[in-house]
Amino acid sequence: MCEPQTEKEFEKYYELRWKMLRKPWNQPKGSEKDEREGESTHIMARTDDKVVGVGRVHFNSIAEAQVRYMAVEEGYQGGGIGGLILKALEGRVEKKGVKYIVLDARENAVGFYKKHGYRIIAKSYLLFGCIQHWKMRKDL
Ligand SMILES: CC(C)(COP(=O)(O)OP(=O)(O)OC[C@H]1O[C@@H](n2cnc3c(N)ncnc32)[C@H](O)[C@@H]1OP(=O)(O)O)[C@@H](O)C(=O)NCCC(=O)NCCS
Repeated sequence: MCEPQTEKEFEKYYELRWKMLRKPWNQPKGSEKDEREGESTHIMARTDDKVVGVGRVHFNSIAEAQVRYMAVEEGYQGGGIGGLILKALEGRVEKKGVKYIVLDARENAVGFYKKHGYRIIAKSYLLFGCIQHWKMRKDL
């Protein structure tokens, strides 16, 4: 687990985010980013020079952090990489005194987050007209 540092590393980091979270729904390159990238902490998992997992966390307030854009390359899912990325993100904000973490989980990932101590607090938005999201929270 490491933070992308170089331009090349960030390129591969965003490439995987786009490939896993935007491309299957025909969303253009660039749609995988938002206006908070610069103030966020980014974590990626890699094997040799291939990025196989990504995740991001940012602050909504002093007390609240938000995890976004978690994705693990298809052939690597279910092997613990997502869990390690999530732990690394949580560790970064816990050190800075955050009280709780929120996220909007895709329906298919709710079980993953539950295993890591998150609970559903509300029904959230529908992405691209078809991917139901659930607002989840974990108190630290
Ligand atoms: C969700 C995702 C990031 C999880 O990463 P991963 O590397 O596959 O997860 P891990 O292997 O670390 O799984 C950790 C635990 O959660 C469980 N788990 C993973 N996905 C699950 C699911 N959909 N439902 C229930 N449990 C799940 C695993 O069984 C594992 O439990 P264990 O440690 O007791 O065996 C990954 O599957 C993914 O990229 N999915 C597609 C993109 C996506 O939906 N991203 C989330 C956007 S909110």
